[in-house]
Amino acid sequence: MCGIVAYVGKKQVYPILMKGLHRLEYRGYDSAGICIYNRNRLNIYKRRGKVADLEEFVSDKDVSGTIGIAHTRWATHGEPNQCNAHPHFSQFADLALIHNGIIENYQTLKKELIKQGRTFYSETDTEVLVQLIDYIRMKSEVSLIDAVHQALSQVVGAYAVAIMSKESPRTLIVARKGSPLVIGIGKDEFLAASDATPIVEYTKDVVYLDEEEIAVLSISPKGKPKMEITNLKNVKKVPLIRKLEMNLSALEKGGYPHFMLKEIYEQPKTIRDSLSGRINIERNTVALSGVIDNKEKFLKARRIIIVGCGTSWHAGLVGEYAIEELARIPVEVEYASEFRYRDPLIYPDDVVIAISQSGETADTLAAVKIAKQRGAFVYGICNVVGSSIARATDSGSYMHAGPEIGVASTKAFTAQVGVLVLLALALAKEKKIINGSRMEQIIKAMYELPGKIEQSLKQNGAIADFAKIFTYSRNFLYLGRGYSYPLALEGALKLKEISYIHAEGYPAAEMKHGPIALIDAEMPVVVIAAQKENYEKILSNIQEVKARQGRIISIVSEGDTEVKALSDFSVEIPQTEAMLMPILACIPLQLLAYHIAVQKGCNVDQPRNLAKSVTVE
Ligand code: AGP
Repeated sequence: MCGIVAYVGKKQVYPILMKGLHRLEYRGYDSAGICIYNRNRLNIYKRRGKVADLEEFVSDKDVSGTIGIAHTRWATHGEPNQCNAHPHFSQFADLALIHNGIIENYQTLKKELIKQGRTFYSETDTEVLVQLIDYIRMKSEVSLIDAVHQALSQVVGAYAVAIMSKESPRTLIVARKGSPLVIGIGKDEFLAASDATPIVEYTKDVVYLDEEEIAVLSISPKGKPKMEITNLKNVKKVPLIRKLEMNLSALEKGGYPHFMLKEIYEQPKTIRDSLSGRINIERNTVALSGVIDNKEKFLKARRIIIVGCGTSWHAGLVGEYAIEELARIPVEVEYASEFRYRDPLIYPDDVVIAISQSGETADTLAAVKIAKQRGAFVYGICNVVGSSIARATDSGSYMHAGPEIGVASTKAFTAQVGVLVLLALALAKEKKIINGSRMEQIIKAMYELPGKIEQSLKQNGAIADFAKIFTYSRNFLYLGRGYSYPLALEGALKLKEISYIHAEGYPAAEMKHGPIALIDAEMPVVVIAAQKENYEKILSNIQEVKARQGRIISIVSEGDTEVKALSDFSVEIPQTEAMLMPILACIPLQLLAYHIAVQKGCNVDQPRNLAKSVTVE
């Protein structure tokens, strides 16, 4: 929900912090701030607005120094303004702290601190934490690190924090619980950030802090780096240093006007990468190591429960249809936020699949923990290597879609669908209930996907043209049946989250049960009719809409004539297997949402009120 970045070393810290904030801005962008130590002062600058507004504000300030912390915010407590922006500082301004997460018991802590004479300038939970650390340090006369340990032990909730102090101007203290934090180990320098994007250009050696761990990162006066990691019980931990797989080019727009468009166009490659090494067309087989290593768990599974949020939940619905069709295992798909709070019935022979692009979504992480506590085998489908959900699950398959920067998920969705179809195939193979020719059909169709996505992308110009007509529409309906129903939901989500136009996805047959009352000439209806199954039925649904002056935008298979004849606008996609059609049909839906939002002048990569990773509840 927020982005934090910190640096200690020999370089000038300001450019490192600001570039890091830009890299993290997709996580939250309603206010931003930095703190740099220099000449025995913690120099704090904070602004409402985007990182660019902060840069303008500090353009005439002294920002020299070699240690600093920086934060870009998505407000949880306290409105987005300069006062509530991070970094927050202690009463005597000798401590500064940035935080990503939510401190649930901050009101109780704040009341106690006020009783002890502490005053507060902001409405945030974060300020309570820095004041608590300062209060403990002064009252108990303990070291800063001990005060941090004691303060964090009192915190209920989630945090990823970076702390600096006037008394130790070459030391950063970072800690995490429930929110992600990555440490970069450079040459005589350390970085810490919410994810690896601010770190990758300085070092590929990283440590992912685990739950309730605290790291002290310091540079001696002689320039010698030192890192110490302990948990809240003060037990030392030997850090596991991993190599980052990410490269810098993935973090730039590469000539596209927006990350979202770049990521839409990356899909031929990301689908190829997500299938690479997992399908073999010559040997007519699939191989998902997570399934092979745990096949007993899957073979004895009475049911599979898929949990996720937003787009990941939509991908889960496609997975439900594919797994039930091929592997004949009952599947339930649950919103992670509902699953975690309804005391779900979970049995030891259940398999729970958690889908999350960021691997940090709080509700999905909580669902994973509950499923594990109740004895289920938990399998993750994530995009970010080393993310919290990836590390909390028993096993899993990475999506290999590369960093997804645009807040609206595009390449992650199609990669998730690809991995889920692979999983369905792999389970059917392990259960020996799929014959060679069916396997061959699907594998061949998967192999052809990148080329067919390229073909679908060629419709971009036509979609951009007719999107202009709908710039001022106020409502949309998206309809689909079977594998197209999850796609109707996903297409509606894409449109509403970047263009702010209200849009609803429905199973096409549901129209008669109410929504058809909405149809008139002002209601554009997007119909996904690109599969043979139930074709006649969806044709009737289109006729019902036309009879009420609804305007039809249809996604059809190449060569279609009947639906096209009834449509005001139609986009053709290449034919493919029904369970893979969501990957192809999603392309025009992503482009339609993108072009309407651009026409409306919306901030496509950073839509209002949203953040890329919802790491708070
Ligand atoms: C999708 O476009 C949205 N950005 C959002 O619904 C997202 O899919 C959801 O927050 C889940 O995120 P995750 O996949 O990282 O868990």
